[in-house]
Amino acid sequence: MKKHTIIISAAFLLGLAILSSCNNSGTSAKLQEPATTQASNVLTADRETGEKESNGPASADPKVKTSDDLLSAFKGESTASAKYAAYSKKAEQEGQREIAILFKAASAAEHIHATNHKAVLEEAGVKVTPVKPEFTVKSTKENLEDAIKGETYEATTMYPEFLKNAEAAGNQLAMISLNYAFKTEKKHKVMYENALSALGNKSVKTLSMVYYVCPTCGNTYDITPPQRCGISMTNSEKFIKITS
Ligand SMILES: [Fe+2]
Ligand SMILES: [Fe+2]
Repeated sequence: MKKHTIIISAAFLLGLAILSSCNNSGTSAKLQEPATTQASNVLTADRETGEKESNGPASADPKVKTSDDLLSAFKGESTASAKYAAYSKKAEQEGQREIAILFKAASAAEHIHATNHKAVLEEAGVKVTPVKPEFTVKSTKENLEDAIKGETYEATTMYPEFLKNAEAAGNQLAMISLNYAFKTEKKHKVMYENALSALGNKSVKTLSMVYYVCPTCGNTYDITPPQRCGISMTNSEKFIKITS
């Protein structure tokens, strides 16, 4: 019970910090530029393969581990945001408007995750330096398959592991930021799977043309959202509406 109170209080504080720095809290469909920062010389995780590469020996200290995890997640989310924005353009070129909008909404969500992770790192005094996202744009079908692979890795392997480490470190802010992303990626995975299936059976037109993205946690709705975000409790009046 006490632990829950601490988590909720921390969530509230983080929410306030994020909301106060968020200029896109209206209903504009304008997509922010993807985050372009990355920590260098840190443990990184390959979003596509799930393999980790380290520039040095992995730390057993949970606090250092969590810092490495957040830097790695920051890199993954920044790359995903840029990649999905490019995938969105590709889908638009292929005349797959509904899938283009889905990619655009997910890109906005990943940007919010990257921003949250960066905020937690900076709060802990960790310097986050620029990165250049690297990815390849293929056909929309292949792009959807790639997106499903990335979301599956994050939702089933990466974030559960990072959350465990953050809990061991007693890092409440990291747990909030990681949990926001973890819960959202689970939803993205399903949305991409549905889109791929619709593409396969030629029913893309049945997919949503409107998405709502929570500016606090990146939670993504393909239907009219409830009054408050199901993950962060943010009022849906602040959600970012993505329509094109
Ligand atoms: Fe995602
Ligand atoms: Fe939210």
